Amino acid sequence: MISQTMKGHLILLNILLLFLLFPLCIPSFLQDQERDIIVELPGQPSHVDFDQYSGYVSVNQQAGRALFYWLVEVPKSSGPESKPLVLWLNGGPGCSSIAFGAAEEIGPFHIQPDGKTLYPNPYAWNNLANLLFLESPAGVGFSYSNTTSDLYTAGDLRTAEDAYVFLVNWFERFPQYKHRDFYIAGESYAGHYVPQLSYILYERNKGIQNSSINFRGFLVGNAVTDDYHDYVGTFEYWWTHGLISDSTYVTLQALCDFESSEHPSKECEDVLDVADVELGDIDPYSIFTPTCNKSAAESHRLRGYYPWMYRAYDPCTERYSKVYFNIPEVQKALHANVTGISYPWETCSDIVGDYWADSPRSMLPIYRELIAAGLRIWVFSGDTDAVVPLTATRHSIDALNLPTVVKWYPWYDDGKVGGWSQVYKGLTLVTVRGAGHEVPLHRPRQALVLFESFLEGKAMPSKNKETRLWETHTSAQLHASE
Ligand SMILES: *[C@@H]1O[C@H](CO)[C@@H](O)[C@H](O)[C@H]1NC(C)=O
Ligand SMILES: *[C@@H]1O[C@H](CO)[C@@H](O)[C@H](O)[C@H]1NC(C)=O
Ligand SMILES: *[C@@H]1O[C@H](CO)[C@@H](O)[C@H](O)[C@H]1NC(C)=O
Ligand SMILES: *[C@@H]1O[C@H](CO)[C@@H](O)[C@H](O)[C@H]1NC(C)=O
Repeated sequence: MISQTMKGHLILLNILLLFLLFPLCIPSFLQDQERDIIVELPGQPSHVDFDQYSGYVSVNQQAGRALFYWLVEVPKSSGPESKPLVLWLNGGPGCSSIAFGAAEEIGPFHIQPDGKTLYPNPYAWNNLANLLFLESPAGVGFSYSNTTSDLYTAGDLRTAEDAYVFLVNWFERFPQYKHRDFYIAGESYAGHYVPQLSYILYERNKGIQNSSINFRGFLVGNAVTDDYHDYVGTFEYWWTHGLISDSTYVTLQALCDFESSEHPSKECEDVLDVADVELGDIDPYSIFTPTCNKSAAESHRLRGYYPWMYRAYDPCTERYSKVYFNIPEVQKALHANVTGISYPWETCSDIVGDYWADSPRSMLPIYRELIAAGLRIWVFSGDTDAVVPLTATRHSIDALNLPTVVKWYPWYDDGKVGGWSQVYKGLTLVTVRGAGHEVPLHRPRQALVLFESFLEGKAMPSKNKETRLWETHTSAQLHASE
């Protein structure tokens, strides 16, 4: 039995301890982290076994630029603290990593056609790594600038610098991720963002032992890489897949091969328009699958003068995310739009995309340097994409003249050919059979096999592998969702 006075003393001691410990000892990063915890998203499935955080990180005080992130951790049963961190970026330029990467590709939740409820994605990449989605640059999605002119002057350089500042500040808020294996992944125009940000990290980590941002390598899919080789390979793809006429093929080569992808000449644009008409009403991001049955007005708006470079894949799911992420309760749960942004959340920002400034013609010099530095570099390609097609990627990689370590071979999953792969010295190329521009959307299972192999640093399986690490974990969910 404890006496009353003793109890009193204990209470006093506790109060004293509270006063002593709390104001002094709770580090501010923990308070910031706590503020960013997502308690629950409207319409989210029950039994969610992983933590999520989201919020803003300021990247430029003067202009008032802040970037929005969403961290999705590995399920607690799989030990998130021992798993790497992967930053995911979508392209456009001007498209949101939350609209595409999180909500229809690799994220844990996808959105039902009602635009209100979420369902689990059994092949989510957070089964294997902690995922950090970033809406980049400012002006995209919930990321904003208090200096409106910033939206009209975005380009590669500022995008990379802001993303770097974001990372530095983000790691201060989440120090438990310091020194953890860190990778960057992305697709499409992120074929620029990913190597450019990688290069900055590599440069600023030089000479530092045990850097807090422990950058290990990158993974890009259907990536804009080198304008000349991309154009050559893209026109070749269109012609060999019967999408354009002989004469248009000849004219494209004559007028566009040496142009910039973001800023082509008027002559080149004109012949691209001719090609667009010849392609007809197919989905260029996935040439063998049906298009989303949109209203005529909407489909017109989405087909810009140069649709294959501007937009990420536009299946109907894009419409559901437009509904979901504009719901005020969803924004509240995400700690998004806290300053009352003057325009709605869009999957892609027309302003940012249309006014895009600097866009270097080739990422190959960065590839050469990062390959020499020994970083892990994987390039994948869905082979039914006509926007940044496999042939474009192959010509770009061929231009690097890398020695082959493992020659071209079919890789297998579940007894079937998942695609093909070739391992070069310093770079691994993986194709995904039957996948369009957004590989994890079209071939979610094969994409997860690819991600697993990348993280393990092992070549794609040349024959059927026993059981995958994530298979036992996800099979229950899979059956539940079928
Ligand atoms: C942008 O302006 C709002 C309103 O003045 C302010 O609350 C916010 O902190 C500013 N954002 C940044 C990143 O400075
Ligand atoms: C790197 O530094 C951190 C923090 O000082 C430490 O915990 C970790 O063990 C170090 N890792 C290596 C490989 O030296
Ligand atoms: C597209 O939607 C309209 C209106 O809902 C419908 O009448 C039409 O049959 C649909 N077309 C296709 C190809 O599914
Ligand atoms: C932000 O919130 C305002 C209402 O305060 C809304 O009108 C606007 O569409 C929202 N913008 C974004 C980007 O979510």
